[in-house]
Amino acid sequence: MRHGTGGYDWCVESDSTRRVLVIGAGGHARVCIEALRDMAETEVVGAISADGFGMEGLGAPMLGTQEDLKSVTQRQSVNAYCVAIGDNSTRKRVSTMLTESGYRLTLVVSGYAMPSPTAVLSPGAQLLPGAVVNAGTEISTGAIINSNATVEHDCHIGEYAHVGPGAAIGGAVRVEHTAFLGLGSRVLPGIQVGAGAIIGAGAVVIDDVPAGLTVVGSPARPINRRKV
Ligand SMILES: CC(C)(COP(=O)(O)OP(=O)(O)OC[C@H]1O[C@@H](n2cnc3c(N)ncnc32)[C@H](O)[C@@H]1OP(=O)(O)O)[C@@H](O)C(=O)NCCC(=O)NCCS
Repeated sequence: MRHGTGGYDWCVESDSTRRVLVIGAGGHARVCIEALRDMAETEVVGAISADGFGMEGLGAPMLGTQEDLKSVTQRQSVNAYCVAIGDNSTRKRVSTMLTESGYRLTLVVSGYAMPSPTAVLSPGAQLLPGAVVNAGTEISTGAIINSNATVEHDCHIGEYAHVGPGAAIGGAVRVEHTAFLGLGSRVLPGIQVGAGAIIGAGAVVIDDVPAGLTVVGSPARPINRRKV
């Protein structure tokens, strides 16, 4: 089945209506639920969380804890999962547990996101309102392109990376898995951001960032973090 929004057209994973169970029940889950509601042939059946509680106004019924995954799946005929957890390593751990057990992650594309028809969007990726993903860019499994973030042409965004709200990435940038780009950060064209690196809010990255390093400021420089 092809699914189009705002003149864009891209493949989704199934020919049948997706009945989505959301895993996570905080602010990021609320945003994902609203985005899922924009998508054609998609129904959010509810959410589960570690303790079974969800934030007020979540927008979907709470159906239990992660212990209830199997029974909720059967009872609600769930056929797709959205891991709506902002923390990269937790999202990766939960998503990997699901896929290794044969459960299918769903792509989330807000009706207000703007993916190029030549962008490649993997299962479990999340494009939130205002996200621009330009020509030839690859968004890997479980990566988040958050509100109003721009990823220019021919980039690679690795698995479970997170491009924060309002961040902007120039052409041909490589962001490796589980890296995090903070609010409003900027990455110049052709830069490589290593696995698990953290780019502070508002930083301007002009050189490659090694794996695991935290950089802040303009131009971005490493910091010693007080809290990790
Ligand atoms: C970079 C970041 C992760 C560092 O967090 P931290 O390890 O808790 O760092 P600290 O608060 O201990 O600050 C360490 C030093 O870096 C400075 N610093 C921290 N973040 C900075 C930033 N974004 N820009 C400039 N300087 C910054 C602090 O002032 C401090 O400097 P000092 O040692 O001279 O006092 C965090 O500040 C940040 O920018 N997070 C992004 C949050 C975000 O965008 N969230 C989006 C959610 S959707």
